[in-house]
Amino acid sequence: MRVIDTIAEMQQQADQWRREGLVIGFVPTMGYLHDGHLELMRCAKTKSDRVVVSIFVNPTQFAPGEDFERYPRDLDRDMALMAPVGVDVVFVPAVGEMYPEGYQTYVEVGEISEPLCGAKRPGHFRGVTTVVAKLFHIVKPHVAVFGEKDYQQLLVIRRMVRDLAMDVEIVGHPIVREPDGLAMSSRNVYLSEEERQEALLLSKALAEVTRLVDGGERAASVLVSAAQKVLEQGARVRIDYAELRDAETLQEITTLDRPGVLALAAFVGKARLIDNTVLRP
Ligand code: PAF
Repeated sequence: MRVIDTIAEMQQQADQWRREGLVIGFVPTMGYLHDGHLELMRCAKTKSDRVVVSIFVNPTQFAPGEDFERYPRDLDRDMALMAPVGVDVVFVPAVGEMYPEGYQTYVEVGEISEPLCGAKRPGHFRGVTTVVAKLFHIVKPHVAVFGEKDYQQLLVIRRMVRDLAMDVEIVGHPIVREPDGLAMSSRNVYLSEEERQEALLLSKALAEVTRLVDGGERAASVLVSAAQKVLEQGARVRIDYAELRDAETLQEITTLDRPGVLALAAFVGKARLIDNTVLRP
């Protein structure tokens, strides 16, 4: 597994692979890897000849006061976890390499990045799309794999790729969960034991709403209230949002008469966790 930390070297490697006719698969991450990330890498491996993983805690996608400084970082741990997966290159640029002095170019996707996390974390998606677009120019992947836990992020990136005619296939990978249902996240490390127990309420809320849909309920207000009621059982849980939206456009819906995504964000202690499920009528 080769470690590259400069843009020039990464681009040279990508160019060489492309000249050799090899398919490049890419998994962008912010490190502190868990099995969810490893699944994305395994998926990328099935779709390509060479796999690149980037590890970069991207400052532009954190608002002031968010957890950029304390976001967990441990490259040695990440390298050990990735070793058995067969990743070819780990790209680990420094902040100054990605955003040198004088940097002033940003990529911004419209409407679809406005609700949900876009409304609660102003500037977040502008940071995500900027860094992902730049990483695509550096790694030059044919295929890039993203997790569906960040459902809105996946839609925003798909929109960016379509709108800017980027020549890369975007693959979404299903959410990977702990055996008890908690969606895997690097931020789970912030949870105390009690908080971790209450964090399970997110996946329980999704399960309860799925049960109601299976039983025939279609009113968005009823489904969202049911999710809120489950989350409110947690003394340490503070709901950031619980919304049912069109699964493709993220427009508001009042009735589940087409696929919808139930998207949840909640603070559990200091950790802001997100989870979602797609509901089909
Ligand atoms: O999902 C993430 O970990 C990040 O948002 C990403 C896509 C690596 C961009 O920094």
